Amino acid sequence: MADISVKLFDFTLKNPVMPAAGPPIKDAAAAFAAKEGGTAAVVTKTISTEAAEVPRPNMAQLRGGFMNTELWSEMGPERWLEQEYPEIKKTGLPIIVGLGYSAEQISKLAKEVEPFADALELSTHYLGSDPSPVIESVKAAKKAVDLPVMVKLSPQVDIAKFAKAAEKAGADGLVLINSFGPTLDFNIETGKPLMGSKDGYGWLSGEAIFPLALRAVYEAVEAVDIPVLAVGGISTGEDAVKMIMAGAEAVQVCTAAILKGPGIYAEIADEIEAYLDKHGYDNLDQIRGMAQRNAPKKANYETVVPDIIRENCTGCRLCIISCVYDANYLDQDNKIVIDSEKCAGCGLCITRCNFDALSLSGI
Ligand SMILES: Cc1cc2nc3c(=O)[nH]c(=O)nc-3n(C[C@H](O)[C@H](O)[C@H](O)COP(=O)(O)O)c2cc1C
Repeated sequence: MADISVKLFDFTLKNPVMPAAGPPIKDAAAAFAAKEGGTAAVVTKTISTEAAEVPRPNMAQLRGGFMNTELWSEMGPERWLEQEYPEIKKTGLPIIVGLGYSAEQISKLAKEVEPFADALELSTHYLGSDPSPVIESVKAAKKAVDLPVMVKLSPQVDIAKFAKAAEKAGADGLVLINSFGPTLDFNIETGKPLMGSKDGYGWLSGEAIFPLALRAVYEAVEAVDIPVLAVGGISTGEDAVKMIMAGAEAVQVCTAAILKGPGIYAEIADEIEAYLDKHGYDNLDQIRGMAQRNAPKKANYETVVPDIIRENCTGCRLCIISCVYDANYLDQDNKIVIDSEKCAGCGLCITRCNFDALSLSGI
């Protein structure tokens, strides 16, 4: 069986899966549930110097995604320091404490949480183009405590610029990405926004943002030498494997843990292990950064017609319906045929097939 443990700073994680700051880790009870569910570490819900006042409603499942207008923890730092962190420490898992949002607030809180933390994660949720607030936050935390300090970045910023600025300021690791937005959706019965925020806006997470997160992680890994943790739309072992291929050290999960419960951590870890075993890898280092090593040197303009694995075709017609070149059809045995004169090599049918009946070996 492949080894899926990860060394992060000076602690070892039994697997590369942990919660992201958010409701799945909103208090000590949730931390114990996450442990039961197989998490390798605890990442606590971001706290700030005051309890947050959070509008209602603040969470909604969308088609392919999830929207929220939560802020940081609705419990103040006193409650965390007196009750939640001491209790979470009893899980025996490495604890990454989420702090926000300004340098002043982080400076004040970092020292207080130090006895409970193995590392800090600074959630800046910053969207501007000047990385100064991120730099200031890192410096404030590094000055206050002797702990590894990670910074969580939003997807809207210039990733390489912010990643380099954070590293230069002394960050020991990066976490990408925070939710994307602002975004908007309505209830069509009432014509009102789904979110109870002042403007009705919310922040997008879940499956919809996975490719955005993957690109951000890929760019951050290219830009810096410090570890990068991936978060954004991860709900399966395959997603996690892709993030690790993009160079991520480990992965965090928020929306999928909300929607599917804490068992998701072990599920993802088991799927990662199964992937490595199936493909003959012994450990995660063998796939980490594979995407950078295989990066295309130039665009491909050659049309390559997909290969057909005839016995896998069920005749479901999914690829036929969506072939905008009318190249796909079924033969008399209800098996897919591709007209190579018509096929433009767009690749869509391969991603539509649920039965591995099409592949692209030519590129
Ligand atoms: C309801 C909700 C609350 C969140 N709260 C926080 C938070 O307190 N601090 C933080 O840094 N990120 C927070 N996030 C962002 C997540 O940690 C994560 O970065 C983002 O949702 C993308 O990951 P996902 O697609 O797995 O949810 C929150 C996300 C959701 C959906």
